[in-house]
Amino acid sequence: MYFSRKKLFAFILILMVGLLLSGCDIHFGHPYVPGSDEDEEFVSDKIPSLYQCYEDYFSLGAAVNSNSKDYELLTKHFNSLTAENEMKPDHLQEEENIFTYNRADEIIEIARDNNMEVRGHVLVWRKQTPGWFFCDDEKIINRMEEHIKNVMGHFGVEIKSWDVVNETVNDDKSSEIYREYDDDDDEHGDRWYNHVRADYVRLAFEFADKYNQHGAKLFYNDYNAVKPQKRDKIIRMLKDLINNGVPIDGIGSQGHWQTDWPSIDMIEEAIQDYQELGLEIQITELDIKIRPGDSEEDQARRYREIFELFMEYSNVIEKVTFWGIIDSESWRAEYKPLLFDENHQ
Ligand code: GLA
Repeated sequence: MYFSRKKLFAFILILMVGLLLSGCDIHFGHPYVPGSDEDEEFVSDKIPSLYQCYEDYFSLGAAVNSNSKDYELLTKHFNSLTAENEMKPDHLQEEENIFTYNRADEIIEIARDNNMEVRGHVLVWRKQTPGWFFCDDEKIINRMEEHIKNVMGHFGVEIKSWDVVNETVNDDKSSEIYREYDDDDDEHGDRWYNHVRADYVRLAFEFADKYNQHGAKLFYNDYNAVKPQKRDKIIRMLKDLINNGVPIDGIGSQGHWQTDWPSIDMIEEAIQDYQELGLEIQITELDIKIRPGDSEEDQARRYREIFELFMEYSNVIEKVTFWGIIDSESWRAEYKPLLFDENHQ
């Protein structure tokens, strides 16, 4: 297994920052020469595991799915994993009271065999949740509780942190925190909010806490969580929950970013704001698009600068999770956003 030239630059930049700061003892040998006969040997033999180089700072995770066949890159470079889809409500309980765990369990087994932590994603979300959850208003809260109880009970000690609620905060320009549901706009609305109103977030965390037998950390996870307008709404919501004694340990800030957005200042301000709330931070779902006009070097620089920032805040950032490993399996495959290319190199 070796890196392509295409991704090598990005990888080395990230790695060098880690190495310089962590003292990870690696010898790069003579410089990498694209096109030389030594490409494969150089890369496969001399680049150490990414997670080992960052282990003094935070753990490094990657999302996997049950279609992934090749776990060599995963186990070499990451010490944490997340199921991309297999633990979402539609995968675990497509029909009421029929829980299907086999695909998620396969992922757990990989983690167990390789001594990796698992991030649970996700207990309550407006998407990838079967419609039956929302039929008959009187049963909705009970269904939420039963789902959380069964899922947390099943995975138990295997999962160290859970995304309890995902993406409930509204990112339009209004000051409304929550997303109204509209039948004509299934993509953006939140059916949980529509039926239970804001209380659903509190209830989800309280149920998660009730069935949390093994001290898993409980997270709120969202995208654009560093974008000032949305960040402020997330903070309003989290403050309210915290002030009301709702058990919440951390914020997952999804990193579906670009080569020039968000700015480092924006990310840093958000980290500081979340830190002030006393919450742990995980960077979740990290991938950096190469858009038309961007180069791979732009992406590499971007990965380097954000990792430099994450290391500065490693007292509060506990984990950084890439949203996949190879470009061709990414949900944004056309933008080649990950560290490895479509040939797994
Ligand atoms: C959101 C979700 C993820 C995933 C991505 C798209 O970020 O949290 O689970 O569905 O969208 O892949």
